[in-house]
Amino acid sequence: MRRVVCPGSFDPVTNGHLDIIGRASRQYDEVVVAVLINIEKKSLFTVEERIDMLQIVTKEYGNVRVDKFHGLLVDYCRQQEIPAIVKGLRAVSDFDYELQQAQLNYRMSGVETLFMATGPEVSFLSSSRIKEIVRYGGSVAGLVPELVLERLVERLRG
Ligand code: PNS
Repeated sequence: MRRVVCPGSFDPVTNGHLDIIGRASRQYDEVVVAVLINIEKKSLFTVEERIDMLQIVTKEYGNVRVDKFHGLLVDYCRQQEIPAIVKGLRAVSDFDYELQQAQLNYRMSGVETLFMATGPEVSFLSSSRIKEIVRYGGSVAGLVPELVLERLVERLRG
């Protein structure tokens, strides 16, 4: 079984995340989408709400499992017998941060990090920007799944 993990906050999942998850699902037998439980970071959606949205929007891929984790990602990988992490790189600005994490993760555990170039049509996306746009009444149609859009509007403007 060739298995990888796509980790993140997913607060909420965007079409940028789905670009990477979908493409990873075509390369591997199983993709585990792992939502970080981070009590220090203020989030818009609870971990359970984020998992619910992820489960619905990744169902069509057929080989994606959604889970949550806390602590070190490499410890989660070891517990779940996942040898590699898949990350999307949107722009050069992502690189320093991602390189440091990839090197530290490898050093700590031997878990590999594989980078995928985000599709140019979604490379400008981030969950934070999406929340900001919706909060102030802008349109994010086509940038997040329909379900996520509905839940964002309900939470931020409801
Ligand atoms: O979507 P995000 O918030 O950019 O995801 C970051 C994430 C979850 C991949 C990263 O923060 C992480 O792996 N956190 C777990 C803690 C950890 O393993 N830290 C050491 C990294 S070198």
